[in-house]
Amino acid sequence: MSTLVTGIGELVTNDPALGDGSPLGPLTDAALVVEDGHVTWIGRAADAPAADERVDLDGRAAVPGFVDSHTHLVFAGDRCAEFDARMCGTPYDGGGIATTVATTRRADDDELRALLARRVAELAAQGTTTVEIKSGYGLTVADEARALRLAGEVTEETTFLGAHVVPSGTDRADYLALVVGEMLTACAPLARWIDVFCEPASPHAFDVDEARAVLTAGAAAGLGLRVHGNQLAPGPGVQLAVELGAASVDHCTYLSPADVDALAGADTVATLLPGVEFSTRSPYPDARALLAAGATVALATDCNPGTCYSSSMPFVIALAVRELRMTPAEALWAATAGGARALRREDVGALRIGSRADLAVLDAPSYQHLAYRPGVPIARALRV
Ligand code: NIG
Ligand code: FE
Repeated sequence: MSTLVTGIGELVTNDPALGDGSPLGPLTDAALVVEDGHVTWIGRAADAPAADERVDLDGRAAVPGFVDSHTHLVFAGDRCAEFDARMCGTPYDGGGIATTVATTRRADDDELRALLARRVAELAAQGTTTVEIKSGYGLTVADEARALRLAGEVTEETTFLGAHVVPSGTDRADYLALVVGEMLTACAPLARWIDVFCEPASPHAFDVDEARAVLTAGAAAGLGLRVHGNQLAPGPGVQLAVELGAASVDHCTYLSPADVDALAGADTVATLLPGVEFSTRSPYPDARALLAAGATVALATDCNPGTCYSSSMPFVIALAVRELRMTPAEALWAATAGGARALRREDVGALRIGSRADLAVLDAPSYQHLAYRPGVPIARALRV
């Protein structure tokens, strides 16, 4: 069965071969035809072929569905008190992760499944159509495997983050051996990616040698690589990610000129998470330096109970424009095509023939309204 989506006042395709030749490939008065969830035709509404069904967007703008390439959605409880303390001056150092580990371990499968379903629905209500979800609040073999099993019920983009922090009361070397041994063996079949919190500035996270050990073991087990790096201080995370060919290094809050150069010459995407700087009252990353150097930039929420309890890609886009000084076009590209690059996906993040028909429909005439109307719920996901 075919569906014609028409009446699209402005359609962002992210295909530079369409429209005005800019990276967003924008079309006006546009339409697309969808069969079996994939785009089979795209162009001016007046030229559209007939289809079995018709959806009229009544002049609204539509953009590729947001690709949120970094979240931690499998958790129970919240850390509102920690947020309050932070807003009163206590800095973030990762120590609060232990609180979420305890509440998550106590929750049963059905409780976690219901929390996860509610969060995924919350993302979709704001225009997200692809989401990556990490484990990392289990930190035992059984609890990490459970988190990945539950995440795998709602997304293909599952990431093993046993190396989130060293659990309290555990010897570092023993825990690392567990992560790269029995835990990896149990989790690798349930995950597409492996990630590590490489942050020598945190007593809870991992130094560069530990992070390298985790990532090389993950690669040997067939997993793609991702890194939490340079979040709390300048550090080795970016260089390690580039050296090992990681798909993405995320946070990039503190970058040296050498880090920017390394990212500019690499396939590793710099994923910026400005909701984290907002919610931890930290300096924002230097997106302009990354873009000027030619690095590929993605935007994601990092939705988690510690550093950014927001599931809103439009909020992230607004922050990127206002605080990271990205243009509205750069921010939209980073939240869609950039996220797809960070996940090494060709089928999402753009609307062209053959891609998935994943849209974010805006109650607005143009994509700039995403940043222009911060906090207003104008975006929703439409998967045809
Ligand atoms: O991406 N930095 C490490 N992990 C998460 C925060 C996790 C938490 O505080 O619960 C992050 O910011
Ligand atoms: Fe994170």
